[in-house]
Amino acid sequence: MEQELIQEVETNSRRKRMKETKEEKKEVTIYDLPGVGAATAEKLMAVGYTDLMSIAVASPAELIEATGMGDAVAKKLIAIARSSLEMGFESGEELLKRREKIQKLKTGSNALDNLLGGGFETGAIVECFGEFGSGKTQIGHTLAVRAQTIEPNAVSVYIDTENTFRPERIIQLAKGAGMDPDEALKNIKVARAYNSDHQMLLAEKVEDLIKKQGLNVKLVVIDSLTAHFRAEFIGRGTLADRQQKINKHMHILLKLADTHNLCVYVTNQVMAKPDMFFGDPTQAIGGHIVAHASTFRVYLRKGKKGTRVAKLIDSPNMPEAECGFYVDESGIKDVE
Ligand code: GTP
Ligand code: MG
Repeated sequence: MEQELIQEVETNSRRKRMKETKEEKKEVTIYDLPGVGAATAEKLMAVGYTDLMSIAVASPAELIEATGMGDAVAKKLIAIARSSLEMGFESGEELLKRREKIQKLKTGSNALDNLLGGGFETGAIVECFGEFGSGKTQIGHTLAVRAQTIEPNAVSVYIDTENTFRPERIIQLAKGAGMDPDEALKNIKVARAYNSDHQMLLAEKVEDLIKKQGLNVKLVVIDSLTAHFRAEFIGRGTLADRQQKINKHMHILLKLADTHNLCVYVTNQVMAKPDMFFGDPTQAIGGHIVAHASTFRVYLRKGKKGTRVAKLIDSPNMPEAECGFYVDESGIKDVE
């Protein structure tokens, strides 16, 4: 598994960074909660309650449904999680300082970058959803190349679930961005995910790349986020199970983005919504769970004359807006 993700020998500077991360303070986990046995902890972890915060903000009903524990236990657990967490209030000033660390990955199209407030943000999950050929994968490839310019030694991780990652395309895009194609290829760690469990495991392994390998990961692409989940759970009447798994996956991604100040870019298909007569009769897979966890959501569609249209759907601080762009051999471009 690790072999798949790790193709590179680490450099000295990376080793140094590794040492630095090791000195971070130890994290309190749900295993440290008084009164939580290993079995309960495992159960909670399995359904996505991987840290204290997720329990502290859960409702008793959610915990009961997820684990089958009693009402009193659930309430107690939430209370303990709340009190053991420094439910830290940050001052607006501190928050602003943290926001200053945010970097914005560029695409090559100013219009698309501006739609997102200057680029694809680190510390966030950005979701692009849209029909086939709308440009989701092209954006993923482009970001994987251009993220490397954000700082020295920056690395992109590409989790490919549909076997659509193309190194040849990376070479074209690197040339288009005026970068050394060999370097660009070297600094993208690709892993093919064969099913949803594998995909989730790979996402967890990114942490190892950062901590053990000392790689400076600035971007994690998951293309596609939902395809495996959708295929595996089709017609099985287990929508709740699927949503729970996706929920867990999203939490891991969100945590990665947040703790390591990296951008998570995920793609998502749309499905037909037959009961809708007006507007665009499509909606993203994964429902409100994916929608809710994504910091930015962009709807992509094909426009006139081979262009693509991106529409910002959900964003914490940007207005809903649209822009056009197009894709050619050298990359993503503004429409003239
Ligand atoms: P699905 O994964 O099928 O849902 O689609 P997608 O949204 O990932 O589409 P993708 O990003 O693969 O878009 C491919 C489109 O990019 C093609 O239909 C082309 O119109 C356009 N494109 C334009 N120029 C190029 C080029 O030089 N290379 C490639 N690969 N695609 C190009
Ligand atoms: Mg694609």
